[in-house]
Amino acid sequence: MTEKQKNQLGVLLVGSGSAVPEQIINNNQLASRVDTSDEWITTRTGIRERRIISNQESLLDLCSTAGSHAISMAGWDPQTIDLVILATSTPDDLFGSAAKVQSAIGAQKAFAFDLTAACSGFLFALVTAAQYLRNGSIHRALVIGADQLSSWVDWDDRKSCVLFGDGAGAIALEASQSENGLIGFKFKSDGRRGDCLTLPQKRNFEQLVEGNDFQQGNFSTIQMNGQEVYKFAVREVPAILEELLNIHQINSNSLDWLLLHQANQRIIDAVAARFKIPQSKVLTNLANYGNTSAATIPLLLDQAIRVKKVKKNDLIATSGFGAGLSWGAALIRWHG
Ligand code: COA
Repeated sequence: MTEKQKNQLGVLLVGSGSAVPEQIINNNQLASRVDTSDEWITTRTGIRERRIISNQESLLDLCSTAGSHAISMAGWDPQTIDLVILATSTPDDLFGSAAKVQSAIGAQKAFAFDLTAACSGFLFALVTAAQYLRNGSIHRALVIGADQLSSWVDWDDRKSCVLFGDGAGAIALEASQSENGLIGFKFKSDGRRGDCLTLPQKRNFEQLVEGNDFQQGNFSTIQMNGQEVYKFAVREVPAILEELLNIHQINSNSLDWLLLHQANQRIIDAVAARFKIPQSKVLTNLANYGNTSAATIPLLLDQAIRVKKVKKNDLIATSGFGAGLSWGAALIRWHG
């Protein structure tokens, strides 16, 4: 540890919350729209059903509920929050939705911004918030991961539509003089390989005035090469986790939990097998929620905390990966 690192504060994970839409769509229902089956989806992905935001709900509602639950578990007055980061690729407003969440949860004194890194977004946001806490510039931060990919899925593309769902999760973070719950992290990006998973603007130029044009904003649907993404995940996630464990000289035996981005059960099983982590230590809720992008990690962590699976001081190895391409891993201890 360098002198500089010694002078930094610790970061504690002190509260969690989550929220999912009411509307449940199971595999058989999807099979009434595209040429697929419950058997195909379950065997290839592990997903049985997903939650989809209906016209009675909004992503903002989910974020606010998840955030409020995390605040109340932490025992905070919302007025004492300094920072709100919303990790999302699907804000209600392209200028950002974090300030709307800040207002809805009553965190008037906090500054708030969105952070976009697709399915890696929550971990990138967690570590971003931690930097402010560690250097002492703020004391309390709320980090939310939330996505409404249902708005951007091509529901007639059976190769991708079966994978995704909507949801939100939140973690409350506090600076500490004596303890530290963010033991380490490692992040990577590779834009050269980004084409296998995108949600691009349509090229849609219209005339502005005689002789000049402009692009009218309008996004396409999710474009995915599933096999390439799969290969990327099973190669890079174990590699980055191994790097992180080595840096901190932590043996995978001493992990209490493996908590991966929930994309495909086969990816989760492959990573667990690589580290010889037994199924009993692998957290998953993929069957019921599918891939909720930036929400998967805090949503699953909150559910595991609330059923008292994850307990105080448990050591968790977590990894997020997805579009960018971007991926990362973090070692965290739940403080509660
Ligand atoms: N139902 C039925 N058949 C389907 C199907 C579906 N929903 N989706 C694809 N198929 C068919 C294909 O058309 C193909 O048929 P063919 O052999 O006649 O051409 C066959 O199933 C195999 O397709 P393939 O793409 O090779 O399947 P796969 O085993 O690679 O599984 C994914 C597809 C998408 C489940 C898998 O590649 C995956 O999970 N990739 C990672 C995606 C991901 O996690 N993205 C988000 C990352 S954050």
